[in-house]
Amino acid sequence: MVPRFGFPLLFFLLVFSLFYNAESKCKKRCDLALASYYLSDQIGDLTNLSKIMKSPVLQKPEDILSYNTDTITNKDYIPTNTRVNVPFPCECIDEGANLGYVFKYPIQKADTYAKIANQTYSNLTTDSSLQSRNGYSPNDIPDYVMLDVAVNCRCGDSHISKEYGLFITYPLRAEDSLDSLANQTKVDPELLRRYNPGADFNKGSGLVYIPGKGQNGVEVPMPPSTKGLKGGAIAGISAGAAVVVLLSACMCIVYHQKKKEEEVKLLSGELAVYSSQHGKGSNGPPASVNTSNTTTSVDKSVEFSYEELAQATNNFCTANKIGQGGFGAVYYAELRGEKAAIKMMESQKSKEFLAELKVLTRVHHLNLVRLIGYCVKKDSLFLVYEYIDNGDLSQHLRDSGRETLPWSTRLQIALDSARGLEYIHEHTWPVYIHRDIKSANILLDRNFCAKVADFGLTKLTEVGSSSIPTANIAGTFGYMPPEYAYGSVSPKIDVYAFGVVLYELISAKEAVLRIGEVGSSTTIGLVSLFDEALEQPNPKEHLQKLVDPMLGDQYPIDLVYKMAQIAKMCTETTPEQRPSMRSIVVSLMTLSSTSVVWDIASLQENPTLANMMSGK
Ligand SMILES: Nc1ncnc2c1ncn2[C@@H]1O[C@H](COP(=O)(O)OP(=O)(O)O)[C@@H](O)[C@H]1O
Ligand SMILES: *[C@@H]1O[C@H](CO)[C@@H](O)[C@H](O)[C@H]1NC(C)=O
Ligand SMILES: *[C@@H]1O[C@H](CO)[C@@H](O)[C@H](O)[C@H]1NC(C)=O
Ligand SMILES: *[C@@H]1O[C@H](CO)[C@@H](O)[C@H](O)[C@H]1NC(C)=O
Ligand SMILES: *[C@@H]1O[C@H](CO)[C@@H](O)[C@H](O)[C@H]1NC(C)=O
Repeated sequence: MVPRFGFPLLFFLLVFSLFYNAESKCKKRCDLALASYYLSDQIGDLTNLSKIMKSPVLQKPEDILSYNTDTITNKDYIPTNTRVNVPFPCECIDEGANLGYVFKYPIQKADTYAKIANQTYSNLTTDSSLQSRNGYSPNDIPDYVMLDVAVNCRCGDSHISKEYGLFITYPLRAEDSLDSLANQTKVDPELLRRYNPGADFNKGSGLVYIPGKGQNGVEVPMPPSTKGLKGGAIAGISAGAAVVVLLSACMCIVYHQKKKEEEVKLLSGELAVYSSQHGKGSNGPPASVNTSNTTTSVDKSVEFSYEELAQATNNFCTANKIGQGGFGAVYYAELRGEKAAIKMMESQKSKEFLAELKVLTRVHHLNLVRLIGYCVKKDSLFLVYEYIDNGDLSQHLRDSGRETLPWSTRLQIALDSARGLEYIHEHTWPVYIHRDIKSANILLDRNFCAKVADFGLTKLTEVGSSSIPTANIAGTFGYMPPEYAYGSVSPKIDVYAFGVVLYELISAKEAVLRIGEVGSSTTIGLVSLFDEALEQPNPKEHLQKLVDPMLGDQYPIDLVYKMAQIAKMCTETTPEQRPSMRSIVVSLMTLSSTSVVWDIASLQENPTLANMMSGK
């Protein structure tokens, strides 16, 4: 007979497994993996190798050396036919379906998918993976496009062994066998089997994952497991279940959950995928596009013909129209198998304008709406963006038809958009300033992953044209810092606007509010409203009155208070007093990891957090 608590327990397990299956591959996570690259005479040196496998953890050839101290003694002489371990980030890719990393490879003349897979990338990927990921038919790959090259990875598994926390993605070659690998790695063959269920080690092809050594040959055990929820009571379990459900509602959260210290370490390069330009050793997209033959062809890959756009939008038919912004109408389209939003605007375009556009198409980040390409026709300019299908933050906070965003999602949205902004402030060259950060410019995908939209547009319109209505270009009322009135522009103007967005996340109120009776009403900025509350002797009580009533009591007031304090620093009158986006990301990450444990009591005495909050 089923015990009385059997049903709820089963139900819990069912819910748990349902949510967890979606990202089962991502459940066991780590940050780093190694790729075993067979260095033949095709790609003769570490310089070439570091170009094709560039990532936040591999910027220069020397970064490879420390992982190969036992095989490479002289970096200028590497015997051919040697396997080299190449470090790469091990991340959730394909919306949580796989662990791996997607490299960007600028295609060369006479490349085929097969050649790229079995020579250039040393069988770390396959031609069918390349084809399905990039969509071009094998006989019709355009010249000079960037291809996505996915290399899978795996992380440790405490059920198999806690001793191994770093794995090599290892393409089997004819000379390999289970015994030879066990011999090489000094790992019990039975363990190797368990890490690779079903793999045929004698096959001479295909991938296996074998434990690897870290930098300078040190062993890398699995990190100690993060502490679980406190207490063993049923209440604890259901709180845990609630957290799991909340988490699963937004895979993005799972994406970003990492141990605190690791997050801070990774911060600088996180998820930053630059289109690596061959020949340019620089850490970012080029400042300008030169006019050699090569780049003329690069242009083509992002330039769409008017006919193609017209066809994809049913001749810009109103049924396809999804929005009307300050710059022009926005249409939905399906272009080359990808969902796109096409922004149409009147524009005179100069040479610099188009050069700038090309640079923008190369800036990629998970939290920035990607500019796929553009099209120029007579006096119109069409910008093709990736389509983000779940509306903007402003709608989610204020449209009555939408479900209320839970607190954890709001925090995640704050963190996502902070990451997008941090990226353009600190990791692109030249540095970009968004200038029009607002909740309406933060789009959400179906997993509630937030992406900053319209990035680069203000700058573009400035460079390129005077015919665009200037109302929006100067920023949006309620989001502009005081110094903006004097024409002072620095990244700190985005920080200010971001602070306003944080207040919106807390209160669901507009950046500018109408208060008082109809007829005699005045307006007040959200910033002043919060400033007033936070300056009271008992700020938390006053803050509570400003919290979005739709949240009911489903929010941890201490964390809301911390977020309000971050927002307050962002909206300081003097730009110098505002923190950088980087330290905001760090503070929000700390809040976010605290939120998961929902352990409010310990937060109050957390000195690390206190330091971070004060921007140190
Ligand atoms: N990349 C996109 N994906 C999906 N919808 C979009 C995208 N870009 C814009 N939209 C829709 O078009 C509307 C107008 O966009 P936009 O021109 O950015 O407005 P604004 O100029 O006011 O910022 C947005 O509110 C949004 O609903
Ligand atoms: C490797 O780099 C050298 C220049 O450093 C270049 O001549 C050679 O073609 C490259 N090899 C490959 C396979 O890209
Ligand atoms: C490897 O690539 C070559 C082309 O460079 C191709 O002829 C060969 O069939 C490929 N082998 C496999 C197994 O894909
Ligand atoms: C990749 O695999 C193919 C077929 O199995 C093989 O011919 C080729 O030599 C391999 N490439 C490398 C670099 O090992
Ligand atoms: C294992 O390695 C030793 C040397 O370390 C070697 O003598 C032996 O032949 C190897 N065995 C296999 C099966 O490769």
